[in-house]
Amino acid sequence: MEFPFDINQLFSERVSILDQTLVAGRKSAGRPDLQAHIATVIDELGRASAKAQQLTAPITSASKLQTQRHQLYLLKDAESNGGRGVVVGFLKVGYKKLFLLDRQGAHIEAEPLCVLDFYISENLQRHGYGLELFDFMLQHKNLEPVLMAYDRPSPKFLSFLAKQYCLTQSVPQVNNFVVFEGFFLNRSGSLCAPLTDQGMYGFFGSAEKGSPQKARRRDQTLLSDGERSGASGAEGSSVAVCSSSFPPAVGILPVLPLPQCGLLPTKGPPSSRPVPPPRPLQGQTHELP
Ligand code: COA
Repeated sequence: MEFPFDINQLFSERVSILDQTLVAGRKSAGRPDLQAHIATVIDELGRASAKAQQLTAPITSASKLQTQRHQLYLLKDAESNGGRGVVVGFLKVGYKKLFLLDRQGAHIEAEPLCVLDFYISENLQRHGYGLELFDFMLQHKNLEPVLMAYDRPSPKFLSFLAKQYCLTQSVPQVNNFVVFEGFFLNRSGSLCAPLTDQGMYGFFGSAEKGSPQKARRRDQTLLSDGERSGASGAEGSSVAVCSSSFPPAVGILPVLPLPQCGLLPTKGPPSSRPVPPPRPLQGQTHELP
């Protein structure tokens, strides 16, 4: 994605991490002109992502980023565009307070890191940039993808998760989020949001700690409503072939179309956000205040 200004001047690193300050490194701090350009880039990326997912409105914009406690990882290619650089794509994550529901129907509070938006420029997709960006975020957060929740992932993204991280077995939910087998088994402090004072037990509540029986029950959950609610513009799913260095959550599965792997959610709730025809989901969401 090209812009009429120098991307390399705005973003010095190959991957920049942006938050509500809209500052990308020291260069843009205290420079309203550069921050305005950064806002333009974010807005443009948000629009492109929404278009790619057939959302009626962007879920990522500079103004949203300024008011939400999310982080946006932005990947650039410094050499392109005559050395001025191009923006390759972005990945937005954030902690979400979620309601979980175990098999018995008990609600449990959680606050995992969630993927909220993810986009690679159309002409650069399927070149490994998505993996580079996602891996960067995982290293930065010191997290495994199985421990994250995915806010209404598009079929392309589900295919990406299956291929790159062997995440193929989703745990049935009744909301917009998708989590995978291992999400509950591999829980750790990283599942707790830094803002909570619930500590290690905060994710499931201390009463749930340490019981394999209870841990199994926890594998059926309700999760919260996400920001997104649009359908995806997927071109189709590919096969589940693992290539990541991350330990697979469920092992390498037979090569099957994703729906046969149980990957695609089934049903979604009506949403407050304006959307095109909803893509299949796993059910309703319940987000904590
Ligand atoms: N159709 C199906 N799967 C696709 C795909 C497509 N058009 N594009 C990427 N993928 C998946 C496939 O598993 C692919 O592997 P394959 O080419 O062997 O089938 C894998 O991603 C490629 O990995 P990588 O090159 O690292 O991913 P990427 O740079 O294409 O980025 C996305 C992945 C999902 C971010 C990118 O495709 C994208 O921006 N899609 C449109 C927006 C979107 O759906 N975002 C998800 C929001 S929930």
